[in-house]
Amino acid sequence: MRTSTVNIRNMKRRRDPIVAITAYDYTFAQLADRAGAHMLLVGDSLGMVVQGHDTTLPVTLDEMIYHSGIVARAAQNPMVVADLPFMSFQVSSDQAVSSAGRVMKEALVDAVKLEGGEQIAPTVRRLTAAGIPVVGHIGLTPQSVHQLGGYKVQGKTMEAARRLIADAEALDEAGAFAIVLETIPAQLARAITERVAAATIGIGAGVDCDGQIQVLHDVLGLVSDLNPRHAKKYVDLAQIVGSALGSYCSEVSERKFPGPEHAAPLKAEVEEALAEEFGSGAALGASHE
Ligand code: KIV
Repeated sequence: MRTSTVNIRNMKRRRDPIVAITAYDYTFAQLADRAGAHMLLVGDSLGMVVQGHDTTLPVTLDEMIYHSGIVARAAQNPMVVADLPFMSFQVSSDQAVSSAGRVMKEALVDAVKLEGGEQIAPTVRRLTAAGIPVVGHIGLTPQSVHQLGGYKVQGKTMEAARRLIADAEALDEAGAFAIVLETIPAQLARAITERVAAATIGIGAGVDCDGQIQVLHDVLGLVSDLNPRHAKKYVDLAQIVGSALGSYCSEVSERKFPGPEHAAPLKAEVEEALAEEFGSGAALGASHE
């Protein structure tokens, strides 16, 4: 049974930290599930770490449905949340219900995430009324990167902090069960966490949020040229994988791989008959059964 919205709300009440991480494919979703994550977010960050775009803006709804379905097939225990990509919900709340409905039905996820504050609260209300659980996302909202003028810390002035608190309260009031707080001062994240019933999930927002989320590729050190301040690299997979692939390339180039142990076995009498009929080259390298 996957973690539910009720479980997440109870975790907030009990002050049990909520562990969330992004996932985009079956293999890593299964590994994150076995590692104990409570929530897998199929983030539109896949536009950058999987598809190689500079921003998340080009990601389409169909692409989100494709990746979300793959992650949902792997997830036994964690809740699966799918991001609604740029321009799949901003046009109108009808568009949002239609996009979220497609993700829920076609990918079998448990909830959707939308970027935005007060201005999308009516949409959040429509979605939750339609039975679609919603995670909000405020602070640094990558879909608005052009409007924000870059990937910068948000909520640093009193006015900006007040606006973010109002955003969080509006989303909470509209029925969001969780809110991602991205790249805002820890003191502001703590104030928001104390004021809302929704669970706050921080990324670059300090330790006092109800939970934490990280981008899988940052935690695993998979992207060597990206090193955001909020991320901790638990392993340098870019180095490990690079070195393993280098060994593979060398061994194939030098005919050291495959060895006899990697080939299908052949009975000795068949090998002999093969050599007799087709020449000794036919059985070259075959291992015996
Ligand atoms: O798209 C994403 O991965 C996200 C997380 C960084 C919260 O929105």
